[in-house]
Amino acid sequence: MRRALRAPLAALFLAAAVLPASAGAPPDVEAVGPLPKCHLDDIMTVPRDYDSWSTTLVDWLLKVSRRYEPPDLVPVGEAGIAGPGYIRAVAIDDLRAMTRAAARNGTPIAVNSPYRSYADQVASFNGWVNVDGYDDAITYSQRPGHSEHQLGLTIDFMTLGGGSALQGDWATTPSGKWMAENAWKYGWLMSYPLSDDGELFNPRTCFHYEPWHYRYLGRAEARKVHSSGLTIREYLWKHYTMVDPRTGEPLATPAPTPFASPTEVPTLAATPSQSASAAAASARAAPSAAPPSSSGGLLGIDPLVFAALGVAVVVLAGIAFAARRGSSPG
Ligand code: DAL
Ligand code: ZN
Repeated sequence: MRRALRAPLAALFLAAAVLPASAGAPPDVEAVGPLPKCHLDDIMTVPRDYDSWSTTLVDWLLKVSRRYEPPDLVPVGEAGIAGPGYIRAVAIDDLRAMTRAAARNGTPIAVNSPYRSYADQVASFNGWVNVDGYDDAITYSQRPGHSEHQLGLTIDFMTLGGGSALQGDWATTPSGKWMAENAWKYGWLMSYPLSDDGELFNPRTCFHYEPWHYRYLGRAEARKVHSSGLTIREYLWKHYTMVDPRTGEPLATPAPTPFASPTEVPTLAATPSQSASAAAASARAAPSAAPPSSSGGLLGIDPLVFAALGVAVVVLAGIAFAARRGSSPG
């Protein structure tokens, strides 16, 4: 091969190697913007494809569609834990390990309420609206599409043989305390902790304290969230959620320059109820194909792919130039 052609061809091979790698790499999105203040909205969350199970966020603003139904639901019993219903297969091994560890410690756990379909959540939420009214219900029961239970990654736990976890503060019981201290090691985290000043409604989660409600993130993500000191909502908004909370539009991948000024989103909800009856009520939560996330960048092309294409163009131009020089005299 002519020496003049070697370098451009090597670069071409490099570009070819980079293209598929960058196209398939998980988005490394950092700080899409300040955490939105608590307000109710109906924005489709991004990412929400079933493979993005550890980074999909639902909260007061963000939701999944009524058709969102994970394809790998399996009975929770496959983890050797007592209780009804289903959970995603991705969580089964760690659920089994956590169940065994809790039992070994003498603080056994069981399932009270795992996966809930959109229809289940309609029934549950409407039930609580009838009991307490809409303004109270939204503080302890998520509107349909906004519940982590629909993700198939969340379980309301209880003490095995110990009755409902939903009365009093389960986190002060032996099993609830063990879970609060150890669940993260198995990939599970309490989604709705007490507020920093001990209030039942937590402005960091926009939700009422639920010491029995744990979401599975996988061990790696759970460890990161645990050591960050952030709640799941804060951590996912900060690192993975690709939605502009002001417009509801999906953000490009990776995120553009973080917003220059804090997102000012007014709090629309009525003053949250902090009553103990609401805590007890939330305890009674009724048991029971999303499109791929958008990508963007320049002209809607992932910037890494765009860069690789640029390299390829330069290389091809180099080849053409070298060929012309090779064919011309002298
Ligand atoms: N009560 C739980 C958080 C829900 O409605 O999803
Ligand atoms: Zn729950």
